[in-house]
Amino acid sequence: MTDALQAFKGKYPSVPSSCYIDDSSRLIGDIEIGENSSVWPMVAARGDVNYIRIGVRTNIQDGTVLHVSRPSDDLPEGLPLIIGDDVTVGHKCMLHGCILGNRILVGMGAIVMDGVVVEDDVFIGAGTLVPPNKRLESGYLYVGNPMVKKRPLKESELAFLAVSADNYVRLKNDYLNNKQ
Ligand SMILES: CC(C)(COP(=O)(O)OP(=O)(O)OC[C@H]1O[C@@H](n2cnc3c(N)ncnc32)[C@H](O)[C@@H]1OP(=O)(O)O)[C@@H](O)C(=O)NCCC(=O)NCCS
Repeated sequence: MTDALQAFKGKYPSVPSSCYIDDSSRLIGDIEIGENSSVWPMVAARGDVNYIRIGVRTNIQDGTVLHVSRPSDDLPEGLPLIIGDDVTVGHKCMLHGCILGNRILVGMGAIVMDGVVVEDDVFIGAGTLVPPNKRLESGYLYVGNPMVKKRPLKESELAFLAVSADNYVRLKNDYLNNKQ
């Protein structure tokens, strides 16, 4: 289906045929992606020293880097990267060893560091740095470096989270149908 997938230590990315994975991205090792998700050009995702899980209808946009932390004495399980359903990860983000719930917008260029937990229905503004081990509360906008909890999300913004995911499901269907 795509040249983008690579095995590592006997683990090969699991990707349903309903997903669009751009050929220029690279997905390595222990990665599982849910139905109707999409991975856009130049994404690097390494499930090598831990695992990566991505839910359904989630989009990982161009140039984003996904990685994990290895097990250590302090943290015997290490830190996998888990991304939920209907999540929009904007262009050139960095998500490292963190957990994201459902219906989240990660704005362009945001960095989300180890041990962070993002609850459902959250906006992370473009360029935001989310420091290690923070918990982002459901229903809020977070922006800036250092990050601040800016304000509750409006009803229109909460609705947009699902709309954004839907838009990307439609777009990836166009790409799947128009591949030469
Ligand atoms: C976060 C975002 C949605 C806020 O939109 P908004 O309606 O302009 O927000 P507000 O007008 O309520 O702004 C609230 C405050 O946060 C500030 N702010 C907004 N976005 C910010 C950002 N990304 N970083 C830092 N501060 C930001 C505003 O300047 C304002 O500051 P003030 O209270 O001092 O005046 C938007 O700026 C953003 O970052 N969107 C991400 C889009 C994206 O990357 N999509 C994925 C790719 S398709």
